[in-house]
Amino acid sequence: MATASGVGGHADGFGATHRTDNWWVGPVLSATLFTSWVLYYTWAALQGKYYAAGPYLSPFYAPLLFSDPTQPGSAAAAHAFFGTWPAWWPSFLPASPALFIAFFPGTFRMTCYYYRKMYYRSFFGMPPGCAVGPVSHNYSGETGLLVIQNLHRYTVYFALLLLPFLFWEALSSFYWAGHGPGVGVGSVLLLVNAILLSAYTLGCHAWRHLIGGRLNCFSCDGGAEAQHEAWTFTSWLNGRHLQFAWASLGWIFVCDVYIRLLSMGLIPDLNTWQGLSYMNGGH
Ligand code: FES
Repeated sequence: MATASGVGGHADGFGATHRTDNWWVGPVLSATLFTSWVLYYTWAALQGKYYAAGPYLSPFYAPLLFSDPTQPGSAAAAHAFFGTWPAWWPSFLPASPALFIAFFPGTFRMTCYYYRKMYYRSFFGMPPGCAVGPVSHNYSGETGLLVIQNLHRYTVYFALLLLPFLFWEALSSFYWAGHGPGVGVGSVLLLVNAILLSAYTLGCHAWRHLIGGRLNCFSCDGGAEAQHEAWTFTSWLNGRHLQFAWASLGWIFVCDVYIRLLSMGLIPDLNTWQGLSYMNGGH
């Protein structure tokens, strides 16, 4: 029989454990997928081109604040909230509209309770798994540098603000300016994307606290029936936060790849606007 040792009865040393299952598969898979996603996103967000096709706008670029229509595969300036590309933009930075918004979903994800667990395990080994020896025993909670993680409760406001824009872009993709209403594979992809990102955002622990988690008793602490219903729904999403975190991450990647390939003329789109070219940008 294995002898318990070390802190909390765990085996001592990095990666040491009495567990007999393949505990390392989850952390290795998470690290591989997440690293691949970040590399792709960084590349795509720096491009500033091939992010729009027909009625579709890549969610990496939504909401679109400015557009440079001289770039191939860009959106029309009329689609951007503030029109054409600003002259004040520093020339040493890539002229990509994605850079205006990347900070908000980026900080929201990186401070998310689920992603913290994932990267503490997969990248820092603190610890790499339950009942598995960590790199060191010096983890002191969300203090010191990691106190910045507490900003998550504020990033959720910005993440919530982005949701209507994503739905707007998704619903707009069912109408191609100049060609009328219709539906294409891209429209469905964008609508599912907005739903999955909503499911991820509305299952946030900080949002769950705001919506009712701070109350001990709904009927006696000022909570109403509608608030209880909303909190119950958020709790349901919260219990599936891990699944929605990955599903929304993967789906937004699929949307960008699909629209990018479409914009470059490398794939066709199954849609009701047959015969129209998607190349060289969107409406
Ligand atoms: S805890 Fe994951 S988004 Fe807030």
